[in-house]
Amino acid sequence: MDKVLASAAEAVALVPDGATVMMGGFGLCGIPENLIYALRDQGAKGLTIISNNAGVTEDNLMLRMSREAWDRVLGTNLTGVFLLTQAVVKGMVRKRYGRIVNVTSVVGLMGNAGQVNYAASKAGLVGLTKSVARELASRNITCNAVAPGFIATAMTEKMTDDAKAKLTGQIPLERLGTPEDIAAAVAYLASEEASYVTGTVVNVSGGLYM
Ligand SMILES: NC(=O)c1ccc[n+]([C@@H]2O[C@H](COP(=O)([O-])OP(=O)(O)OC[C@H]3O[C@@H](n4cnc5c(N)ncnc54)[C@H](O)[C@@H]3O)[C@@H](O)[C@H]2O)c1
Repeated sequence: MDKVLASAAEAVALVPDGATVMMGGFGLCGIPENLIYALRDQGAKGLTIISNNAGVTEDNLMLRMSREAWDRVLGTNLTGVFLLTQAVVKGMVRKRYGRIVNVTSVVGLMGNAGQVNYAASKAGLVGLTKSVARELASRNITCNAVAPGFIATAMTEKMTDDAKAKLTGQIPLERLGTPEDIAAAVAYLASEEASYVTGTVVNVSGGLYM
């Protein structure tokens, strides 16, 4: 892996040099259509690793959740992954090599009150991951997911100290995870060493979910 990138625009700029890139995902709301076409072209030029990492939350109890909040979260977290993966996969098929790593969440496995849209999107991502793994295994393309627990990032920054303390109390390893904990799992699944691993969900949650 040459470099971990923050945006697909950076990936598009890099790939013409033949670099192998690992990129974050982009949700439906953020994807210009020409980016999908550009990625399809770059896929043809040798993109072999994609990590779909972008994700959003818009929490509310189901009774109060708007249709728009449902659509936005599903659009970014699930439809976005479908569109971007579909865009790059043709090139991988041609190359007979690929690594797809989707970032889901333990919330997609265990559910969470107030996150019906987010949990559904992340559970959907597990189904997408396993189906893509089955469809593409014969082409030497693996597709796996990483399910983070609670990780100290901007996404969890919004929580009150009280909510964070309560949550940490439920984590056997007694701390929030770090982005590095997740990156290590993604890097493994994207590596040569993981060539016999496909369709799996690696739970990186300090034991919150087991
Ligand atoms: N932080 C956690 O505790 C936690 C737990 C489980 C899963 N996750 C998942 O990990 C991934 C990364 O989350 P994070 O904690 O770093 O969140 P974050 O909010 O810090 O970062 C999310 C990133 O996604 C990008 N993004 C969102 N919508 C986009 C769009 N439409 N187009 C392009 N980019 C877009 C944002 O710009 C941001 O850089 C997400 O998929 C999230 O659901 C996070």
